[in-house]
Amino acid sequence: MGPPPSPLTVRRVQFAYPDDLDPVWVPSRPEFSHAANCISLIMPFAEPYFVRSVRAALAELPADAQAGVADYLGQEMAHQGQHKRFNRFVTARYPGVTRVEGWMRRFYGWLGRSRSMKFNLAFAAGSETIAYALARWTEKHLGTLFSGADPVAATLYLWHLAEEVEHKSSAYDVFEAVDGSRLRYAWASTVSLVALAFFVWTGSLAMLKADRRLFSPVAQFRLTRWAVSLGMEILPTLFVSALPRHHPSKFADPVFLPRWLSQFDPETGTMPLWDGAAGRAA
Ligand SMILES: [Fe+2]
Ligand SMILES: [Fe+2]
Repeated sequence: MGPPPSPLTVRRVQFAYPDDLDPVWVPSRPEFSHAANCISLIMPFAEPYFVRSVRAALAELPADAQAGVADYLGQEMAHQGQHKRFNRFVTARYPGVTRVEGWMRRFYGWLGRSRSMKFNLAFAAGSETIAYALARWTEKHLGTLFSGADPVAATLYLWHLAEEVEHKSSAYDVFEAVDGSRLRYAWASTVSLVALAFFVWTGSLAMLKADRRLFSPVAQFRLTRWAVSLGMEILPTLFVSALPRHHPSKFADPVFLPRWLSQFDPETGTMPLWDGAAGRAA
């Protein structure tokens, strides 16, 4: 009898970015584009670190616990590859953020080199819980945040968030099989969240400065309001996920993202593009 089938699908998505893609992909909310772009900038550093961390633990896993791990790693590598392509548009318009990118590279590289395998696994598992909460928050505010958004850029983010929901348990299962310390999980999750907030904050400020909107009350108010709202989604989710005997499968999935993901066409490597004018997938 072979290993159980993987519950995950690695989707080879083709994103046709136009040469003149505007990195401010939600024109009515440039601050949201900036904050989201900072998350995109983090991905080519954070996701390969998660992949290396989980891969390093594979030998310690029983065969049946390995089901789906390779596909989880495949999804993460696909995410960071697509974000890397998209990030070229961001850094071309905002060269100032390459400095923040340097901090990201050093931070995630340092974690991988200097922390224990257990800490790195706890960090990956906690980061996946944060990504799941981010997906749930985004879906709740989709009509507002993605209204008028560039269809290709919006679809990149929605595809990524939908797959984060799909593999919300993957890193957690590996962490649980190897370690499972709730204290380590809580600590590593906190470090991950603080780093994420710092990089999004500093990167967004760099982009606002380039826009000459650093002291815009509207920009600062919106960023603060989204940060508070997102914090109210992420913090309780992280708290619950750190409780004894909790498992991410107990978290309810958002409704739209998985349904939309199921419309992926493997023949063409495409899915329905986000229709920003209608506020839904076309
Ligand atoms: Fe990802
Ligand atoms: Fe993920």
